[in-house]
Amino acid sequence: MTMDISSAPLAIKDLFKAALLVREKAHSPYSGFKVGAAIRTAQGQTFTGCNVENSSYGGSNCAERVAIQKAVSETENLEIVEIMVVTDANPPWPPCGLCRQVMVEFGTQIKIYCSSTQGAYAEYTLNELLPNAFTPSNLKK
Ligand code: THU
Repeated sequence: MTMDISSAPLAIKDLFKAALLVREKAHSPYSGFKVGAAIRTAQGQTFTGCNVENSSYGGSNCAERVAIQKAVSETENLEIVEIMVVTDANPPWPPCGLCRQVMVEFGTQIKIYCSSTQGAYAEYTLNELLPNAFTPSNLKK
């Protein structure tokens, strides 16, 4: 179901604004797609990221993973509560499979909001997008 950001709770609107703003920083000369992501941690902090491409294409990073890497390197024991992803696509893009796997490392209950720059957004749980995930708990002996 797609909703409109104008009727979203304030906390989600704030994440949208942060992701929209950082999206402008995208380094994406090869795909031409700009993506912005904003994550909220269990401590209430927000971290943002944009996609960063590379002329050696495999060196590219999605916006979600850039935001997560920033959060890991600037906090202790990262726990992610929610993630907003903004592109100019409508219907909005869902996060790629690699990003889903990186997300589940930091929270199995994460809510994911996928929005267009115009504000049409869909809400998912990470469990919906990555059922039966391989998580750190699988490595416990
Ligand atoms: N991209 C993201 O940043 N996040 C996603 O979830 C999907 C794809 C980026 C990677 C690349 O820079 C461009 O979008 C096209 O795939």
